[in-house]
Amino acid sequence: TRIFPNSATAAKELAAEVRALIEERAKQGKNVVLGMATGSTPVPFYRELIRLHKEEGLSFKNVVTFNLDEYYGLGADHPESYARFMADQIFDHIDIPKANINIPSGKVSSDQVFAHCREYEEKIDAMGGIDLQILGIGRTGHIGFNEPGSSRDSLTRRITLDRVTRQDAAADFRGEENVPHFAITMGVGTILRGKKLVLMAWGDNKAEMVAKAVEGPMTEAISASFLQGHPNARFYIDTGASREL
Ligand code: GLP
Repeated sequence: TRIFPNSATAAKELAAEVRALIEERAKQGKNVVLGMATGSTPVPFYRELIRLHKEEGLSFKNVVTFNLDEYYGLGADHPESYARFMADQIFDHIDIPKANINIPSGKVSSDQVFAHCREYEEKIDAMGGIDLQILGIGRTGHIGFNEPGSSRDSLTRRITLDRVTRQDAAADFRGEENVPHFAITMGVGTILRGKKLVLMAWGDNKAEMVAKAVEGPMTEAISASFLQGHPNARFYIDTGASREL
């Protein structure tokens, strides 16, 4: 666990690491596979990557991305879809090829969900696995949308969102009744296959969940706690989020 004075400092350091990885692989003519997250937490990191692209010429042509999750029922054109969020927050501002961007589809029909999720898993593996997975943490201790009860070995699947998670999203959707009840998310097992994991958390309201994830028992009740069992998982937090450690 690393405690930073603020999110901007942490974001800069992580972006510098990602830049070095992208440039090293580009020299070898190889891709980098990044696991992307949504929410407010990764925004400073994305902002720094955009700056590196615009001001320092960092190219994302050899970057392949897989997002953690998507609301079930929302298309890429919906303003609250994670596809829209990613386009607005980073993808529209860098030179990543559209074909390299992977986000679970919220619009697959019910009878296609299983096949869609299996294909997502297979595509991650076909790309050589995720080199570095970015994570946030929700108020239920979830990573991606792996709500309490998600097993250590769970794979990409449709999940029912927790009441707490839907309440936290209510403002964005102008009312809890508008928040989808389901999402498609990479599983805990999918995430743990990533070679390097970085969970970021900022502010006092994350302190309790960060403490449980870092110091509590590994449990299905807090899916982020499974990071303790990963050989290369880091928590990048600010002083606020470290308050209960
Ligand atoms: C959603 C996302 C998570 C994210 C969480 C926290 O539930 N599916 O990936 O970590 O929100 O959001 P925020 O970063 O805005 O606190």
